[in-house]
Amino acid sequence: MININLIGAGNLAHHLFRGIYNSEGVKLQQWYSRDKKRLSAFSSKTGIIHDLKALQQADLTILAVSDDAIGELSSALPFDDQLVVHTSGSVSIHELDKKHRRGVFYPLQTFSKDVDVDFSHVPFCLEILEKEDLILLKKVCEAIGSPYYKINTEQRQTLHLAAVFVNNFTNQLYRIGHEITDIKNINFDILKPLILETAKKVQEVSPYMAQTGPAKRYDKKTIKRHLKLLDNPLHKELYELLTQSIQQTHGRKKL
Ligand SMILES: NC(=O)c1ccc[n+]([C@@H]2O[C@H](COP(=O)([O-])OP(=O)(O)OC[C@H]3O[C@@H](n4cnc5c(N)ncnc54)[C@H](OP(=O)(O)O)[C@@H]3O)[C@@H](O)[C@H]2O)c1
Repeated sequence: MININLIGAGNLAHHLFRGIYNSEGVKLQQWYSRDKKRLSAFSSKTGIIHDLKALQQADLTILAVSDDAIGELSSALPFDDQLVVHTSGSVSIHELDKKHRRGVFYPLQTFSKDVDVDFSHVPFCLEILEKEDLILLKKVCEAIGSPYYKINTEQRQTLHLAAVFVNNFTNQLYRIGHEITDIKNINFDILKPLILETAKKVQEVSPYMAQTGPAKRYDKKTIKRHLKLLDNPLHKELYELLTQSIQQTHGRKKL
């Protein structure tokens, strides 16, 4: 049995709790939150603590906290020489206090507390400083049913950068689409099959092959009409920039 401590009570921590709690071979020993009310509903399921001094040694301590708090919290853990990992895509492994055996356990997926996630669709990017620690991290992934990849810092930070484009920026574009339809009282649901199909298509062909639309076709009149319809100057700028980016990719001239 692998004993695990979980630090933090945000979006990712809640999903990690569910993943660990529902799996064989791993056990959540203690779960720390600085907020006293936050985890009260879980006190019958694991040891909830609000004071780091009460944290006991475990086979693995996972810091699922804001990126900027990783260094400070790793130093505040009341033990050393244990395996301590953070879950960030961009923070260096060396931000963890070197009194620990250090690692990174980065799940490349988007987590919101109340939206279910299937751990078989959560690839973990694993980074370690000592070879034997990789064995334990792999076992945790296998227990919760997740695929895993051993990667280095540069690869992880590159993946995180790409993830910002394919997830955060794409989602902001959904948001702009939502605003544009809302203003005209049009139901955003009509666009949802297109959103699904866009994500599905890149599972089959490359993003290069999947591209369609007025920018790629260089339909100048349609592009002009769209720009005229946009009131928000930032949305106009984004439309122009993305159009240029598509045309550059597909060998077209600028707008
Ligand atoms: N969410 C995702 O989609 C996702 C995906 C992959 C990786 N990650 C990584 O997972 C980590 C957590 O992200 P998240 O989305 O779960 O963040 P989140 O929902 O904002 O939760 C952050 C947690 O950190 C705690 N925290 C922050 N500063 C602290 C401090 N000084 N002492 C104690 N606790 C502190 C917060 O406590 P309070 O509640 O008291 O403020 C909160 O429980 C980050 O490193 C992030 O890069 C997130």
